[in-house]
Parts: sequence; C-alpha cells; structure tokens
Amino acid sequence: MNLDYENVVDKILCSEEDIKSRIKIVARKIEEYYKDSERKLLLLGILKGSVVFMADLMKELHLPIEVDFMRLSSYGKGAVSTGNIVIKAGLERKDLSEYNILIVEDILDTGNTLYWLVDYLKQEHMCENIKICTLLDKPDRREKPISVDFGCFTIPDEFVIGYGLDYNELYRDLPYVGVLKREIYEK
Ligand code: XMP
Ligand code: MG
Repeated sequence: MNLDYENVVDKILCSEEDIKSRIKIVARKIEEYYKDSERKLLLLGILKGSVVFMADLMKELHLPIEVDFMRLSSYGKGAVSTGNIVIKAGLERKDLSEYNILIVEDILDTGNTLYWLVDYLKQEHMCENIKICTLLDKPDRREKPISVDFGCFTIPDEFVIGYGLDYNELYRDLPYVGVLKREIYEK
C-alpha cells in the first residue's frame, strides 16, 4: 500500500479546525430556522460524499432530527455532472409531506444534481419545504438556478478532496479539504 498518499494535496483549503468551527456556526443557523416549525425535520444525506459532513453536522444539531440517505449518480461524459441523474439507492417512504427536508451534500458545483433532486422530491415524495446544506459551494461553476441555504465554505473552481470528497474513490478519509494537485488528474 502507498502510505504516502497525502502527497497528492497541493494545499489545504479548509483545515480540520476551520471545518469544526464553521459547522458549529451553521448548526446554530439551522436550529434558528427550524426551531419553531410544526413539521418534523429529515436530514437527507447524499452518498457517498456527504457522509463525513453529515456525521459531524448531526452531532452538533440540538434539534430532534431523523436521517436518511440517497445515492445518486450522474451519467454523461467526463467528470462534470450532467442533468441525467440516476437513483442508485432511493427512499423507502413515499410520502414525506409531514417533513421539512434538509438536503446534506458535500458540494454544490454545477448544481445539476441538486436541481434535479429538489424537483424529484417535490414530484415523487410530496416535499414542500426543501433546503440545502453543503460543506462547500463552488458558485463559479453553476449551471442551474440553485443556491446553498446553509453553507460552510465558498471555494474557487479547483478540484478538491477530503472530508468525504474523493478522487477515484480515494481520499474521502482525509480530515481536511485540500486541492488535488493538477498533475494527478491531468496526467
Ligand atoms: P454538481 O453540483 O455539479 O455536483 O451536480 C455533483 C457532484 O460532483 C462532485 N464534485 C466533486 N467531487 N471534488 C470532488 O471530489 C470536487 O471538487 C467536486 N466538484 C463536484 C460531488 O460529488 C457533487 O456531489
Ligand atoms: Mg456528491
């Protein structure tokens, strides 16, 4: 095994400490927004990228929450997502009308995935109040009219790994978010 695998990181964008403190701030905003709602709150994590963020965020929230997960994939050419989304693992319950839905995702990039998902949840699961919480936001790449409601960091247009985000399925376990060296994906 290559135990020196962290040498693919060009620079650290969000350190472990930065992430911890931003999650606390975002959790307080989420609590403030939902605390007086009559509806139950469902945190809907999008696998696999959200898994580390979801775990840390839910521990920080002082609200009664339920959690569920979906796995989506986008097909099309290259690494950029398209609007063609396939559900790899869906929700068991059909009627979610009694819930507020908070989508928890690693990153909002082009917006294609979550734009599709919000419409799907409204059409197929009767969701009315849907909000988006992401660790990262890359607004420079947006292709769809969608924005983050509760976000931790806005980042430049660079390919990032760590804290749930992968490159070829590796590096999700890094405790920070780092920029992947260009020579790794351009070679
Ligand atoms: P969009 O918003 O483009 O995002 O539909 C779809 C998915 O693309 C992934 N993504 C990244 N993954 N580093 C990653 O590891 C990145 O810089 C990056 N940008 C986008 C991510 O899974 C997102 O959910
Ligand atoms: Mg993802």
